[in-house]
Amino acid sequence: MNREETLDRFPGNFLWGAATSAYQIEGSPLADGAGPSNWHRFSHQPGNTRNGDTGDIACDHYRRWADDVSLMKELGLQSYRFSISWSRVFPAGVGTVNSAGLDFYDRLVDRLGAEGIQPNITLHHWDLPAALDDRGGWAHPDSPDWFAEYARTVFQRLGDRVTMWATLNEPWVIVDAGYVHGVHAPGHRDLKKAALVSANLLRAHGKAVRVYRDLDVSRRADGKGRIGIVVNLEPKDPASEDPTDLQATRRADAYMNRQFLDPLFLGSIPAELDEVFGQDQLRLSGEDFGLLAGSLDFLGINFYTRSVTRHDETAAPIRASSVKQPGALYTDLDWEVHPSSLTALLIRVRDAYGDLPLYITENGAAFPDPEPDAGGGIPDSLRVDYFREHLRAVQRALAAGVDVRGYYAWSLFDNFEWACGYDKRFGIIRVDYATQRRTLKDSARFYRRVIRSNGSVLAEGALEE
Ligand code: FCB
Repeated sequence: MNREETLDRFPGNFLWGAATSAYQIEGSPLADGAGPSNWHRFSHQPGNTRNGDTGDIACDHYRRWADDVSLMKELGLQSYRFSISWSRVFPAGVGTVNSAGLDFYDRLVDRLGAEGIQPNITLHHWDLPAALDDRGGWAHPDSPDWFAEYARTVFQRLGDRVTMWATLNEPWVIVDAGYVHGVHAPGHRDLKKAALVSANLLRAHGKAVRVYRDLDVSRRADGKGRIGIVVNLEPKDPASEDPTDLQATRRADAYMNRQFLDPLFLGSIPAELDEVFGQDQLRLSGEDFGLLAGSLDFLGINFYTRSVTRHDETAAPIRASSVKQPGALYTDLDWEVHPSSLTALLIRVRDAYGDLPLYITENGAAFPDPEPDAGGGIPDSLRVDYFREHLRAVQRALAAGVDVRGYYAWSLFDNFEWACGYDKRFGIIRVDYATQRRTLKDSARFYRRVIRSNGSVLAEGALEE
């Protein structure tokens, strides 16, 4: 068997999915008794998002969810990763449950089940109840307990039918964009707070996992339920062999890639973070580490790009920045397309942290959509290429023995891309925001063929129906 043939197979039970998140697609943020989230508040403050865009309508998924599940079925998705809006469930973050909010997700889970699509639920994808922000948000020492109580309520309602749970999406982005640079909600620029947030997010994860594991087996889908966390990882390659660039690269790597994984897997905090947080360096106790040890049944990895890194005194707090690569392809977010970094990353995670089941919980690219072709299709060939090459990169990691169990395309729909608003399109399904019409792009058709053939189509690289 030649190498290409070995590469063109995914394991028989490989899970194919697509991902979204609540605030990015749902719209109707205050419907049926929901409270405002910090993203609702943040996006309504002038200057925070491009064109003043908000999630008020987004993809109107809150009302169109049933048709959207039909589209998932049409694509052949085996799993759908979505998140729950905390402030729909607890309008004030804690206290009284708004059962109408939970009902929405209950119906969604049932419909997915009826269509044979496995729900993969993320409890927190950045939209914290605004009422909790008023009390200090993730910097408040009680925030891990607030989260654990919210998690308990959701597990109790949906846990009998949901077998895949993630506590948090990309805690690093919450820390870095939300509390260091202030470009995401809640818009703080406070390193000291950021370090507290980082530690509290880890505690919140640990506490929620403990709550889950203590539940009665029937609430954990007859013991089949698994829980993990989703991190975004971005390999850092030094721009030169200059010792300052090498050290900057180590710092950037510790800050973005090891800040959460080292505490979770190794029971330690990267020493390089002293150079980032200084005297405010995050602190975790023996009890905290005890909570984190063994807390993952799987790890979700979001991968988009790598960074070629150099020393840069002006780039606080890590004093490192990315260098653009001449001749390389960049997405609409200016992220370098670099698939081989995904293979290297998966191997590194296995080698550094152990042989845990891994899922690619997000991977995809923003490119401006080309004009529709004569047949009304959307020939987004750059996105098709992106998916093909990254799926091949996953195959290479599989061939190297890494235990990758599934892959989720980001995103099922064009959606509210946070501070970038609706300007940047990541969807495999186009959303016309004026009419809410959905159109499968070529990337969706390609992905459907990938799923149908369990990846064999990647070897041919052709795009036909
Ligand atoms: C990730 C987020 C997701 C989306 C993609 C492009 O960082 O998890 O919500 O914004 O990036």
